[in-house]
Amino acid sequence: MNDLDQLVAAASADFAAAPTPAELENAKARFLGKAGRVTELLKGLAALSPEQKKTRGAEINQTKQRIEAALTARRAALAEAELEAQLRAEALDVTLPGRQRGVGGLHPVSRTMERIEAIFGSMGFDVADGPEIETDWMSFTALNNPENHPARSMQDTFYVDMKDEGGRWYNLRPHTSPMQVRYARAHAAKYAGMDTMPEIRVIAPGRTYRVDSDATHSPMFHQCEGLWIGENVSFKDLKVVFTEFCRKFFESEDLQLRFRPSFFPFTEPSAEIDIAFASGPLKGKWLEVAGSGQVHPNVVRNFGLDPERYIGFAFGMGPDRLAMLRYGVNDLRLFFENDLRFLRQFN
Ligand code: DAH
Repeated sequence: MNDLDQLVAAASADFAAAPTPAELENAKARFLGKAGRVTELLKGLAALSPEQKKTRGAEINQTKQRIEAALTARRAALAEAELEAQLRAEALDVTLPGRQRGVGGLHPVSRTMERIEAIFGSMGFDVADGPEIETDWMSFTALNNPENHPARSMQDTFYVDMKDEGGRWYNLRPHTSPMQVRYARAHAAKYAGMDTMPEIRVIAPGRTYRVDSDATHSPMFHQCEGLWIGENVSFKDLKVVFTEFCRKFFESEDLQLRFRPSFFPFTEPSAEIDIAFASGPLKGKWLEVAGSGQVHPNVVRNFGLDPERYIGFAFGMGPDRLAMLRYGVNDLRLFFENDLRFLRQFN
Protein backbone atom coordinates (compact mmCIF):
# COMPACT_ATOMS: atom_id res chain seq x y z
CA MET A 1 0.00 0.00 0.00
CA ASN A 2 1.47 3.34 -0.98
CA ASP A 3 1.08 6.52 1.05
CA LEU A 4 -1.99 7.62 -0.93
CA ASP A 5 -3.80 4.33 -0.47
CA GLN A 6 -3.00 4.56 3.23
CA LEU A 7 -4.43 8.05 3.32
CA VAL A 8 -7.69 6.84 1.75
CA ALA A 9 -7.81 3.95 4.22
CA ALA A 10 -7.19 6.31 7.15
CA ALA A 11 -9.91 8.71 5.97
CA SER A 12 -12.39 5.87 5.46
CA ALA A 13 -11.61 4.54 8.93
CA ASP A 14 -12.03 8.02 10.47
CA PHE A 15 -15.32 8.57 8.66
CA ALA A 16 -16.62 5.19 9.73
CA ALA A 17 -15.72 6.00 13.31
CA ALA A 18 -17.67 9.28 13.28
CA PRO A 19 -20.98 8.49 14.99
CA THR A 20 -22.79 11.74 14.10
CA PRO A 21 -22.97 14.07 11.08
CA ALA A 22 -21.20 16.80 13.11
CA GLU A 23 -18.28 14.55 13.94
CA LEU A 24 -18.15 13.39 10.34
CA GLU A 25 -17.73 17.05 9.29
CA ASN A 26 -14.79 17.35 11.73
CA ALA A 27 -13.23 14.25 10.21
CA LYS A 28 -13.74 15.69 6.74
CA ALA A 29 -11.85 18.84 7.77
CA ARG A 30 -8.88 16.76 8.88
CA PHE A 31 -8.52 15.39 5.36
CA LEU A 32 -10.10 17.81 2.93
CA GLY A 33 -10.11 21.07 4.92
CA LYS A 34 -7.79 24.05 4.35
CA ALA A 35 -5.20 22.57 6.67
CA GLY A 36 -6.20 18.99 5.88
CA ARG A 37 -3.88 16.24 4.80
CA VAL A 38 -4.90 16.28 1.12
CA THR A 39 -4.33 20.01 0.98
CA GLU A 40 -0.90 19.45 2.57
CA LEU A 41 -0.09 16.94 -0.19
CA LEU A 42 -1.12 19.42 -2.88
CA LYS A 43 1.13 22.07 -1.35
CA GLY A 44 3.99 19.58 -1.58
CA LEU A 45 3.64 19.58 -5.40
CA ALA A 46 5.37 22.96 -5.56
CA ALA A 47 8.73 21.34 -4.94
CA LEU A 48 8.42 18.85 -7.83
CA SER A 49 9.45 19.04 -11.46
CA PRO A 50 6.72 19.69 -14.05
CA GLU A 51 6.81 16.06 -15.09
CA GLN A 52 6.53 14.73 -11.55
CA LYS A 53 3.87 17.36 -10.78
CA LYS A 54 1.67 15.97 -13.52
CA THR A 55 1.70 12.34 -12.35
CA ARG A 56 1.72 13.12 -8.63
CA GLY A 57 -0.96 15.76 -9.12
CA ALA A 58 -3.20 13.31 -10.93
CA GLU A 59 -2.66 10.70 -8.21
CA ILE A 60 -3.47 13.19 -5.45
CA ASN A 61 -6.64 14.25 -7.29
CA GLN A 62 -7.73 10.65 -7.56
CA THR A 63 -7.02 10.19 -3.86
CA LYS A 64 -9.10 13.25 -3.12
CA GLN A 65 -11.98 11.86 -5.15
CA ARG A 66 -11.82 8.52 -3.37
CA ILE A 67 -11.88 10.29 0.02
CA GLU A 68 -14.82 12.40 -1.12
CA ALA A 69 -16.63 9.28 -2.25
CA ALA A 70 -16.01 7.67 1.17
CA LEU A 71 -17.32 10.84 2.81
CA THR A 72 -20.47 10.87 0.67
CA ALA A 73 -21.11 7.21 1.42
CA ARG A 74 -20.70 7.78 5.14
CA ARG A 75 -22.97 10.82 5.05
CA ALA A 76 -25.66 8.78 3.35
CA ALA A 77 -25.22 5.95 5.85
CA LEU A 78 -25.52 8.33 8.80
CA ALA A 79 -28.61 10.04 7.32
CA GLU A 80 -30.23 6.69 6.75
CA ALA A 81 -29.44 5.53 10.27
CA GLU A 82 -30.91 8.73 11.64
CA LEU A 83 -34.08 8.30 9.59
CA GLU A 84 -34.39 4.72 10.71
CA ALA A 85 -34.00 5.68 14.37
CA GLN A 86 -36.66 8.33 13.94
CA LEU A 87 -39.03 5.91 12.25
CA ARG A 88 -38.45 3.39 15.02
CA ALA A 89 -39.14 6.02 17.67
CA GLU A 90 -42.32 7.13 15.97
CA ALA A 91 -43.43 3.65 15.06
CA LEU A 92 -47.16 3.14 14.62
CA ASP A 93 -48.68 -0.28 14.76
CA VAL A 94 -51.48 0.21 12.27
CA THR A 95 -52.80 -3.25 13.08
CA LEU A 96 -53.72 -2.24 16.67
CA PRO A 97 -57.46 -1.88 17.17
CA GLY A 98 -58.57 1.77 17.43
CA ARG A 99 -59.31 3.35 20.80
CA GLN A 100 -63.03 3.21 21.32
CA ARG A 101 -64.83 6.30 22.46
CA GLY A 102 -67.11 5.27 25.32
CA VAL A 103 -70.69 5.99 24.47
CA GLY A 104 -72.49 7.45 27.47
CA GLY A 105 -76.02 6.60 28.47
CA LEU A 106 -78.75 7.84 30.73
CA HIS A 107 -78.89 6.57 34.29
CA PRO A 108 -82.05 4.52 34.97
CA VAL A 109 -83.14 7.09 37.55
CA SER A 110 -82.64 9.91 35.02
CA ARG A 111 -84.69 7.95 32.51
CA THR A 112 -87.39 7.57 35.13
CA MET A 113 -87.31 11.30 35.90
CA GLU A 114 -87.62 12.13 32.22
CA ARG A 115 -90.54 9.77 31.94
CA ILE A 116 -92.29 11.36 34.92
CA GLU A 117 -91.69 14.83 33.48
CA ALA A 118 -93.01 13.82 30.06
CA ILE A 119 -96.20 12.30 31.45
CA PHE A 120 -97.00 15.16 33.81
CA GLY A 121 -95.94 17.63 31.14
CA SER A 122 -98.58 16.11 28.85
CA MET A 123 -101.13 16.85 31.58
CA GLY A 124 -100.19 20.52 31.74
CA PHE A 125 -97.75 20.42 34.66
CA ASP A 126 -94.74 22.71 34.78
CA VAL A 127 -91.39 21.25 35.95
CA ALA A 128 -89.57 23.16 38.70
CA ASP A 129 -86.12 22.84 40.17
CA GLY A 130 -84.80 24.22 43.46
CA PRO A 131 -82.00 24.21 46.03
CA GLU A 132 -80.88 21.05 47.80
CA ILE A 133 -79.61 23.07 50.77
CA GLU A 134 -82.73 24.50 52.37
CA THR A 135 -83.75 26.76 55.20
CA ASP A 136 -85.55 25.31 58.19
CA TRP A 137 -88.60 27.40 57.29
CA MET A 138 -88.90 25.99 53.76
CA SER A 139 -88.29 22.36 54.73
CA PHE A 140 -90.43 22.31 57.87
CA THR A 141 -92.14 25.42 59.24
CA ALA A 142 -93.91 26.53 56.07
CA LEU A 143 -95.12 22.96 55.64
CA ASN A 144 -96.93 23.09 58.96
CA ASN A 145 -94.45 20.90 60.83
CA PRO A 146 -94.67 21.57 64.56
CA GLU A 147 -91.50 22.69 66.36
CA ASN A 148 -90.95 19.26 67.88
CA HIS A 149 -91.72 17.16 64.78
CA PRO A 150 -89.41 14.11 64.65
CA ALA A 151 -88.45 14.85 61.01
CA ARG A 152 -86.53 17.82 62.37
CA SER A 153 -84.32 15.60 64.51
CA MET A 154 -80.66 15.06 63.75
CA GLN A 155 -81.38 11.32 63.42
CA ASP A 156 -83.54 11.95 60.38
CA THR A 157 -82.24 15.07 58.68
CA PHE A 158 -78.73 16.10 57.67
CA TYR A 159 -77.84 19.60 58.79
CA VAL A 160 -75.36 21.99 57.25
CA ASP A 161 -72.97 23.88 59.52
CA MET A 162 -74.43 27.25 58.57
CA LYS A 163 -77.34 29.21 60.02
CA ASP A 164 -80.17 30.93 58.18
CA GLU A 165 -81.68 34.36 58.97
CA GLY A 166 -83.88 32.83 61.66
CA GLY A 167 -80.76 31.48 63.41
CA ARG A 168 -81.52 27.89 62.40
CA TRP A 169 -79.25 25.38 60.72
CA TYR A 170 -79.66 24.91 57.00
CA ASN A 171 -80.60 21.35 56.07
CA LEU A 172 -80.04 19.05 53.11
CA ARG A 173 -83.68 18.94 52.09
CA PRO A 174 -85.24 15.71 53.39
CA HIS A 175 -88.04 15.94 50.82
CA THR A 176 -88.95 17.94 47.71
CA SER A 177 -91.98 19.46 49.48
CA PRO A 178 -90.21 22.83 50.06
CA MET A 179 -90.50 23.24 46.29
CA GLN A 180 -94.29 23.49 46.73
CA VAL A 181 -93.68 26.53 48.88
CA ARG A 182 -91.03 28.10 46.66
CA TYR A 183 -93.01 27.61 43.47
CA ALA A 184 -96.40 28.62 44.90
CA ARG A 185 -95.00 31.75 46.58
CA ALA A 186 -93.36 32.89 43.33
CA HIS A 187 -96.57 32.18 41.44
CA ALA A 188 -98.74 34.00 44.00
CA ALA A 189 -96.37 36.99 44.04
CA LYS A 190 -96.52 37.18 40.25
CA TYR A 191 -100.31 37.51 40.23
CA ALA A 192 -100.67 39.47 43.49
CA GLY A 193 -103.30 42.20 43.18
CA MET A 194 -104.91 40.70 40.09
CA ASP A 195 -108.49 39.47 40.07
CA THR A 196 -107.66 35.96 39.02
CA MET A 197 -104.64 33.72 39.13
CA PRO A 198 -103.95 30.85 36.74
CA GLU A 199 -103.91 27.50 38.53
CA ILE A 200 -100.67 26.22 39.97
CA ARG A 201 -99.80 22.92 38.37
CA VAL A 202 -96.23 21.80 38.90
CA ILE A 203 -93.97 18.88 39.60
CA ALA A 204 -90.55 19.26 41.22
CA PRO A 205 -88.22 16.30 40.81
CA GLY A 206 -84.80 16.25 42.47
CA ARG A 207 -82.33 14.89 44.98
CA THR A 208 -83.25 14.56 48.64
CA TYR A 209 -81.29 13.45 51.72
CA ARG A 210 -81.99 11.53 54.91
CA VAL A 211 -79.99 9.77 57.60
CA ASP A 212 -80.95 6.33 56.37
CA SER A 213 -79.19 3.46 54.60
CA ASP A 214 -80.25 -0.10 53.75
CA ALA A 215 -81.46 -2.14 50.74
CA THR A 216 -84.43 0.17 50.21
CA HIS A 217 -83.04 3.45 51.62
CA SER A 218 -80.09 5.52 50.51
CA PRO A 219 -78.86 8.70 52.29
CA MET A 220 -79.22 10.42 48.93
CA PHE A 221 -82.34 9.52 47.03
CA HIS A 222 -84.86 11.15 44.71
CA GLN A 223 -88.32 12.52 45.11
CA CYS A 224 -90.79 14.15 42.84
CA GLU A 225 -93.23 16.59 44.33
CA GLY A 226 -96.52 17.49 42.72
CA LEU A 227 -98.84 20.41 43.41
CA TRP A 228 -102.11 21.50 41.89
CA ILE A 229 -103.82 24.53 43.39
CA GLY A 230 -106.84 26.39 42.07
CA GLU A 231 -110.26 27.62 43.08
CA ASN A 232 -111.98 24.33 42.50
CA VAL A 233 -109.48 21.46 42.63
CA SER A 234 -110.50 18.38 44.54
CA PHE A 235 -109.33 14.97 45.67
CA LYS A 236 -111.17 13.57 42.67
CA ASP A 237 -108.74 15.44 40.38
CA LEU A 238 -105.83 13.97 42.30
CA LYS A 239 -107.21 10.50 41.80
CA VAL A 240 -107.73 11.04 38.08
CA VAL A 241 -104.32 12.59 37.53
CA PHE A 242 -102.38 10.06 39.57
CA THR A 243 -104.19 7.06 38.12
CA GLU A 244 -103.49 8.36 34.63
CA PHE A 245 -99.85 8.90 35.56
CA CYS A 246 -99.36 5.38 36.98
CA ARG A 247 -101.04 3.67 34.07
CA LYS A 248 -98.92 5.59 31.57
CA PHE A 249 -95.74 5.16 33.57
CA PHE A 250 -96.10 1.39 33.92
CA GLU A 251 -97.79 1.00 30.52
CA SER A 252 -100.59 -0.94 32.14
CA GLU A 253 -104.20 0.12 31.61
CA ASP A 254 -105.57 -2.28 34.22
CA LEU A 255 -103.26 -1.21 37.04
CA GLN A 256 -105.26 -0.54 40.25
CA LEU A 257 -104.91 2.40 42.64
CA ARG A 258 -105.85 2.65 46.30
CA PHE A 259 -105.85 5.66 48.61
CA ARG A 260 -105.06 4.65 52.16
CA PRO A 261 -105.73 7.21 54.93
CA SER A 262 -102.52 8.55 56.40
CA PHE A 263 -101.05 11.60 58.07
CA PHE A 264 -98.76 14.38 56.88
CA PRO A 265 -98.54 17.74 58.63
CA PHE A 266 -98.89 19.60 55.32
CA THR A 267 -102.05 17.87 54.08
CA GLU A 268 -105.51 17.31 55.52
CA PRO A 269 -106.88 14.80 54.76
CA SER A 270 -103.81 12.75 53.79
CA ALA A 271 -103.45 9.49 51.95
CA GLU A 272 -100.80 7.02 50.90
CA ILE A 273 -101.20 5.93 47.30
CA ASP A 274 -100.77 2.21 46.67
CA ILE A 275 -100.78 0.49 43.30
CA ALA A 276 -101.35 -3.12 42.29
CA PHE A 277 -100.37 -4.66 38.96
CA ALA A 278 -102.89 -6.82 37.15
CA SER A 279 -100.18 -9.16 35.90
CA GLY A 280 -96.49 -9.94 36.25
CA PRO A 281 -94.45 -11.14 39.24
CA LEU A 282 -95.98 -8.52 41.57
CA LYS A 283 -99.57 -9.20 40.47
CA GLY A 284 -102.20 -8.25 43.05
CA LYS A 285 -99.68 -7.01 45.63
CA TRP A 286 -100.34 -3.50 47.01
CA LEU A 287 -97.21 -1.37 46.70
CA GLU A 288 -96.88 2.07 48.22
CA VAL A 289 -95.71 4.64 45.64
CA ALA A 290 -96.58 8.09 47.00
CA GLY A 291 -97.86 10.23 49.83
CA SER A 292 -100.57 12.74 49.05
CA GLY A 293 -103.35 14.88 50.38
CA GLN A 294 -105.33 18.08 50.24
CA VAL A 295 -102.99 20.94 50.99
CA HIS A 296 -103.45 22.14 54.58
CA PRO A 297 -104.92 25.68 54.92
CA ASN A 298 -101.86 26.77 56.93
CA VAL A 299 -99.63 25.76 54.02
CA VAL A 300 -101.85 27.56 51.50
CA ARG A 301 -101.51 30.64 53.72
CA ASN A 302 -97.71 30.22 53.62
CA PHE A 303 -97.93 30.17 49.83
CA GLY A 304 -99.24 33.74 50.21
CA LEU A 305 -102.75 32.65 49.16
CA ASP A 306 -106.14 32.80 50.85
CA PRO A 307 -107.12 29.27 51.96
CA GLU A 308 -110.80 30.31 51.80
CA ARG A 309 -110.39 30.79 48.07
CA TYR A 310 -107.62 28.42 46.99
CA ILE A 311 -107.57 24.70 47.51
CA GLY A 312 -105.82 21.76 45.94
CA PHE A 313 -103.70 18.71 46.40
CA ALA A 314 -100.10 17.71 46.65
CA PHE A 315 -98.24 14.47 46.34
CA GLY A 316 -94.70 13.22 46.78
CA MET A 317 -93.30 10.10 45.22
CA GLY A 318 -89.99 8.29 44.98
CA PRO A 319 -88.64 7.96 41.43
CA ASP A 320 -86.03 5.47 42.68
CA ARG A 321 -88.82 3.22 43.88
CA LEU A 322 -90.67 3.63 40.59
CA ALA A 323 -87.49 2.74 38.69
CA MET A 324 -87.04 -0.38 40.86
CA LEU A 325 -90.60 -1.49 40.13
CA ARG A 326 -90.42 -0.72 36.43
CA TYR A 327 -87.08 -2.45 35.88
CA GLY A 328 -87.40 -5.19 38.50
CA VAL A 329 -84.41 -4.06 40.58
CA ASN A 330 -84.50 -5.30 44.17
CA ASP A 331 -81.71 -3.28 45.80
CA LEU A 332 -81.83 0.52 45.69
CA ARG A 333 -78.10 0.79 46.35
CA LEU A 334 -77.35 -0.67 42.90
CA PHE A 335 -78.48 2.62 41.40
CA PHE A 336 -75.82 4.58 43.24
CA GLU A 337 -72.80 2.26 43.16
CA ASN A 338 -71.94 3.32 39.60
CA ASP A 339 -71.09 -0.19 38.49
CA LEU A 340 -71.14 0.05 34.69
CA ARG A 341 -72.05 -3.63 34.35
CA PHE A 342 -75.32 -2.77 36.08
CA LEU A 343 -75.89 0.61 34.44
CA ARG A 344 -75.19 -0.57 30.88
CA GLN A 345 -78.23 -2.81 31.00
CA PHE A 346 -80.46 0.23 30.75
CA ASN A 347 -78.90 1.64 27.58
N1 DAH B 1 -92.88 14.91 51.76
C1 DAH B 1 -93.39 13.59 52.02
C2 DAH B 1 -92.25 12.65 52.36
O1 DAH B 1 -91.15 12.98 52.10
C3 DAH B 1 -94.11 13.04 50.83
C4 DAH B 1 -95.38 13.77 50.59
C5 DAH B 1 -96.54 13.33 51.19
C6 DAH B 1 -95.42 14.87 49.79
C7 DAH B 1 -97.71 13.99 51.01
C8 DAH B 1 -96.60 15.54 49.58
C9 DAH B 1 -97.75 15.08 50.22
O2 DAH B 1 -96.69 16.60 48.81
O3 DAH B 1 -98.91 15.72 50.00
O4 DAH B 1 -92.46 11.63 52.88
